[in-house]
Amino acid sequence: MKPDLFKQFQTIFDSTEMPRLFFAPGRINLIGEHTDYNGGHVFPASISFGTYALAHKRGDQKLRFFSQNFAHTGIIECDLSHLAYNEARDWANFPIGMIKFMHASGYSISAGMDILFYGDIPNGAGLSSSASIEMVTGVLLEGLFDLAIDRVRMIQLGQQVENNYIGVNSGIMDQFAIGKGKKDHAILLNCQTLDYQYAPILLEDHVIMIINTNKRRTLAGSKYNERRAQCEQALRDLQQELSIESLGDVTKEQFEQHKHLIQDETNQRRAKHAVYENQRTLEALHQLQQGHVDVFGQLMNESHLSLQLDYEVTGIELDTIVHAAWQQPGVIGARMTGAGFGGCAIALVEKDQVENFKNIVHTIYRQKTGNEATFYTAAIGDGARELTEGVL
Ligand code: GLA
Repeated sequence: MKPDLFKQFQTIFDSTEMPRLFFAPGRINLIGEHTDYNGGHVFPASISFGTYALAHKRGDQKLRFFSQNFAHTGIIECDLSHLAYNEARDWANFPIGMIKFMHASGYSISAGMDILFYGDIPNGAGLSSSASIEMVTGVLLEGLFDLAIDRVRMIQLGQQVENNYIGVNSGIMDQFAIGKGKKDHAILLNCQTLDYQYAPILLEDHVIMIINTNKRRTLAGSKYNERRAQCEQALRDLQQELSIESLGDVTKEQFEQHKHLIQDETNQRRAKHAVYENQRTLEALHQLQQGHVDVFGQLMNESHLSLQLDYEVTGIELDTIVHAAWQQPGVIGARMTGAGFGGCAIALVEKDQVENFKNIVHTIYRQKTGNEATFYTAAIGDGARELTEGVL
């Protein structure tokens, strides 16, 4: 965290008060991609990068927001009684949406606030900076107003903000991973029932590398909603003969027997990914629990190929990085993570091979695309919370 944030808070908001400090991480997804809105399983983990929020209550109804990451927009102001979406409020729509939805759901937000945000998640990298700002707003409201809110409820409200306020039809994975994250653990989540379990990620000789294509990806303008609609159509087709509620209910065998019901060939491939990826995710957890990290890695590779060929959400940047990663010594698995269409890939890389891995993958990527890749080592951290110690 930037050490001078407290001072900056006082300068920006012309205040002498000490604000409280909250944090929500970003996330990576180890496997289970584009399965959440299909009623399947996901296996994400929260990371140590995230969004910090410093906040205090005001004596009036005014809300003032400032982000170190978007300093050029200055202080964005509104009033507790005017929380409708407003394009001019730019990035502040994320926290404003959260305030509106929490308040409308009966969690009384009785006073205005000054809030300073600072995030170290690479923006637009597919590591869920938007869910992170929603969830940090959720925990700061919980803290400042002593709200008795169940964490899963907060997560659901975060998703509703994304769907009904921002206008992106995303699933629940990001808010869940961020709201429920646990240090050194990934979360196997059944997105239909919201049952979940933690699984320790203790890789010993390997690290999780995050490789940013630096190709920015925006969900709203992307093909994300189109993929979702294609899966919904495929589900309707299958429901002619199968009594299922989502593609997450379908086994591979059932799919192969009934796929002819899906009229459109493209939709058939989309559904195939959703069904197989869901099964792969369950298998991946099983293999991890048996200590078979190699098999886990192979399942990650299969996941990428399915996202590349059947779901078609990868693109030249992610494919170049992932295919190059597969060729390097010490790599047990690599795949895109998140929505795709740019953003980040992840790879499990042997510790001793990390420098070599970075050099070669970077060179190949630059030669093929003309772009620079950025490499980070992922640390799996805790979920959204108030920070009380050791932060200055
Ligand atoms: C984005 C969405 C998630 C999920 C992933 C793909 O991150 O926000 O809900 O659908 O894409 O797995």
